[in-house]
Amino acid sequence: MKSMIFTNMKPYCRILSPCKNTYFFPRSPTPSYSHTNFSNSQIYIYSPPILGFRTIFNQSHKFNSTCSQSRIFSNTWCCTFSKRPQYVVAGVPSNIKNFSTFFETHVSDKNFERIYVQGGLNLKPLAVEKIDLDEGVAKDQEDRIKVENLENESVKVGKEESEVEKEAWRLLRNAVVTYCGSPVGTVAASDPNDKLPLNYDQVFIRDFVPSAFAFLLKGEGEIVRNFLLHTLQLQSWEKTVDCYSPGQGLMPASFKVRTVALDDDKFEEVLDPDFGESAIGRVAPVDSGLWWIILLRAYGKLTGDYALQERVDVQTGIKLILNLCLSDGFDMFPSLLVTDGSCMIDRRMGIHGHPLEIQALFYSALRCSREMLALDDGSKNLVRAVNNRLSALSFHIREYYWVDLKKINEIYRYKTEEYSTEATNKFNIYPEQISGWLMHWIPEEGGYLIGNLQPAHMDFRFFTLGNLWSIVSSLGTPKQNEGILNLIEAKWDDLIGQMPLKICYPALESEEWRIITGSDPKNTPWSYHNGGSWPTLLWQFTLACMKMGRNDLAKKAIDSAEKRLHVDRWPEYYDTRNGKFIGKQARLYQTWSIAGFLTSKMLLENQEMASLLFLEEDSDLLENCVCALSNSSRKKCSRRLAKSQILV
Ligand code: GLC
Repeated sequence: MKSMIFTNMKPYCRILSPCKNTYFFPRSPTPSYSHTNFSNSQIYIYSPPILGFRTIFNQSHKFNSTCSQSRIFSNTWCCTFSKRPQYVVAGVPSNIKNFSTFFETHVSDKNFERIYVQGGLNLKPLAVEKIDLDEGVAKDQEDRIKVENLENESVKVGKEESEVEKEAWRLLRNAVVTYCGSPVGTVAASDPNDKLPLNYDQVFIRDFVPSAFAFLLKGEGEIVRNFLLHTLQLQSWEKTVDCYSPGQGLMPASFKVRTVALDDDKFEEVLDPDFGESAIGRVAPVDSGLWWIILLRAYGKLTGDYALQERVDVQTGIKLILNLCLSDGFDMFPSLLVTDGSCMIDRRMGIHGHPLEIQALFYSALRCSREMLALDDGSKNLVRAVNNRLSALSFHIREYYWVDLKKINEIYRYKTEEYSTEATNKFNIYPEQISGWLMHWIPEEGGYLIGNLQPAHMDFRFFTLGNLWSIVSSLGTPKQNEGILNLIEAKWDDLIGQMPLKICYPALESEEWRIITGSDPKNTPWSYHNGGSWPTLLWQFTLACMKMGRNDLAKKAIDSAEKRLHVDRWPEYYDTRNGKFIGKQARLYQTWSIAGFLTSKMLLENQEMASLLFLEEDSDLLENCVCALSNSSRKKCSRRLAKSQILV
């Protein structure tokens, strides 16, 4: 389903030329203004009566000849709302930093770079793609030519497409959402018979990733570029959930393009993000920003357009996400502490704490950021913090999340209540926690990373996305990564079954289901998040297999999916132990099922392209530790330990 309803009318989506003294939005229905005096300029904030999209734009890429300078963002900052021409900041001198959002790098005691965002106007400077129909046209054309050139340069898939692939492409293209005439994403599902789409008519950040990969592999970069830039604008949205504002840098879970009627039979399009304030259960979209960073790197790798990631506003976006993730809390572990449902499993499933999926995406996003951050005085402390976190995180996951037959036997014989820094059973795990299913299930060969680790608690469930992304990003050691695929192969019927792939294994049943899911009727055993099978996971599986030279496994899974997916009308998920039935409440024509299939097919035919997308073991990460441990206690240094792990 397309979001643009008024196809025969040109929607009103321009923003007035910024960088002049004062601009007012014409025909504003009962606007309200706040007024701030600066020493030699005035700023008016226009608050439209409709849902506001309040953002300051950094115009450095468009208007650098005429604009005055702000300290960090180099040029004039302009203020606008939604995509409506509104109203703009006057020629603002450098003292804007005292009143509005600005960044200051600062080395704290812990060698962290902090980014301060001052309350004030609560706005963040960003760049917009389409600023003005008049002034923006030339730039748009320039951009289009650039993207077309990139498309021509991209390696195209040479092979003739099968009928199933052709259908998938048709459906994927139909799912494209446009904003002001440009493609910006894909809806989550577009089933014409679905009378209650809830939020499946929105562009989800995580759902768009396989679509983006499909377009990129096809040589179509424009939609991905637009998506990255528009979601970047949404990052600055002034968001509140019951009067509370979540952290700066948060990316929304999803957004919708809404068409709003103006006076005079005119319409405008606005981007309306959901940061979890409307989502079922009010879940926090922790994974969105991490996926955004991962996609940004992939866009550069696959198109060669590295200029995008070098833009000041994009660099700022990366830093904001990192700052949010790296900020101090009460955590005792280097893993990221999150609430339940903060990733693909966006409902209560007992994955609060330190779920593997978030850790794998976090690790991957840190590695991608390190590659993309421009190295200068302003970023060097941040890069150092990223490096330190990477080595501590990889050590933590490799050491404490890994289980195989040998490790389970060790846990089985654990002593408990050990009080000392030298404890073997550091997290005080009671051996009784090892469930009966695991004792029987764990194969002789291979192993996996457990779902979660907390004090006195190991969640032994196998979570597919976290394990696959640990392989793709090299969060696991080479040997562990190989072991995960060996386990999947050995447990093929359980994890792949009739439709790849199980989201987690096994399902929570009976009392566990009642207590852990809160009796969730959508997450009954072997359905949806609770042990359902999700075809979208096929692309991550393909990438992981290709990284480990196991293309045979990927091919086998893709072949079995190909037989059913189109016949079943591309369901969101499948139910039962081995994925026999289409999910009870599964959407049909689910975009990421379609895109996941296409991406898997294209990846498998392009080893070279695939290898641009995964991250190899980084030995530098294991060198030059800057932690405060003295030489005498070097053995406790995580970098040292991480280094010894990879030799295992
Ligand atoms: C469900 C899934 C979530 C997905 C969304 C849109 O809520 O759990 O991962 O992003 O649907 O498809």
